[in-house]
Amino acid sequence: MTAKKTVLRALAGEVLPTPPIWMMRQAGRYLPEYRATRAQAGDFLSLCYNPELAAEVTLQPIRRYGFNAAILFADILLVPQALGADLWFVTGEGPRLSTITSQAELDKLVPADAIHDHLSPIYETVKILSRELPSETTLIGFAGAPWTVATYMIAGRGTPDQGPAHALKDADRVVFDALMDRITEATIHYMSAQIEAGAEVMKIFDSWAGSLQGADFAQYSIKPMQRITSALKEKHPHVPIIAFPRGAGERYQGAHAAIGADCIAIDDGVDASWVAQHVQPDGCVQGNLKSSHMVTGGEALVSETRRIVEALRGGPHIFNLGHGITPDADPENVQLMIDTVRNA
Ligand code: CP3
Repeated sequence: MTAKKTVLRALAGEVLPTPPIWMMRQAGRYLPEYRATRAQAGDFLSLCYNPELAAEVTLQPIRRYGFNAAILFADILLVPQALGADLWFVTGEGPRLSTITSQAELDKLVPADAIHDHLSPIYETVKILSRELPSETTLIGFAGAPWTVATYMIAGRGTPDQGPAHALKDADRVVFDALMDRITEATIHYMSAQIEAGAEVMKIFDSWAGSLQGADFAQYSIKPMQRITSALKEKHPHVPIIAFPRGAGERYQGAHAAIGADCIAIDDGVDASWVAQHVQPDGCVQGNLKSSHMVTGGEALVSETRRIVEALRGGPHIFNLGHGITPDADPENVQLMIDTVRNA
């Protein structure tokens, strides 16, 4: 039997001498090879739906850096598109979608279990990757959490404060809850299909969890992620789940148990030593390094990387950034971060 992959060992709660490493948005515009393949595909969405090229960009950072995990190249907004929303990307600005703010618009969406054919190229990408990845590299599949996906479906774009989604939640709870349920069911379907195609770990991105206040945080961030996790665990009990309630602050404490997740991803808004004391005792943690260090590099990158590795040395830890790497990052800084973790 081969030794279990390091990412799976950390997710199972093992404390390793050196944390395994991967990076959010590791396949992305900071890499010249990514930009070349995206140009070959035509545009970002064509790249997502082209299994050969999507697998190629997933593999690029593995070849260049030897990360311990690969994350499927796709996007959280493919689920709304599969549900029937129009989706396009405006260069330099970000995503645009047709909006859902009424029962009539909700009624036009397809049922959650009818998204399969639309998303089949993604499952094909997973199949290619499970054949082509090095045997020591873990394949992570993902989806957006219902709240984060709903914020884009309601506003039709990214928003600084998720105002339109909060407004619909407060003005028409029936439509809002029905939309959340539809996304939750579709996400369970989508993630199950990724697992069946060969993904070994699932990550749920709740990028806008931090704007949910009071009881809304438990109800609309934690609870839908818990529903997805328990549905996946029922069918696939051995597939670890990483949950990312970004911006949770002190509400990161207790998140493992509340969601039923094997690992909690942490943004850069909390201190690593606080995480070691209050979150890591419940299971594996991942994240925390400010993405901007990948732009600025130097001594600050080295000392912050070391500080996080030291703080989290006593428990299960996967090294990662607090959010995605940005297009202006220097690929050499990524290598410096990896060397620092592996020699810390
Ligand atoms: O490498 C990876 O991490 C895997 C692929 C991945 C992408 N998006 C590719 C992508 C993953 C896991 C995502 C998740 C995602 N997508 C999230 C959650 C994580 C987060 O960042 O908070 C969100 C909110 C989205 C929605 C989305 N997709 C936005 C807001 C944007 C535009 C912003 C931007 O960075 O341009 C995207 C586009 C996107 N998704 C790109 C990539 C590589 C850039 C598109 C390009 O190549 O032009």
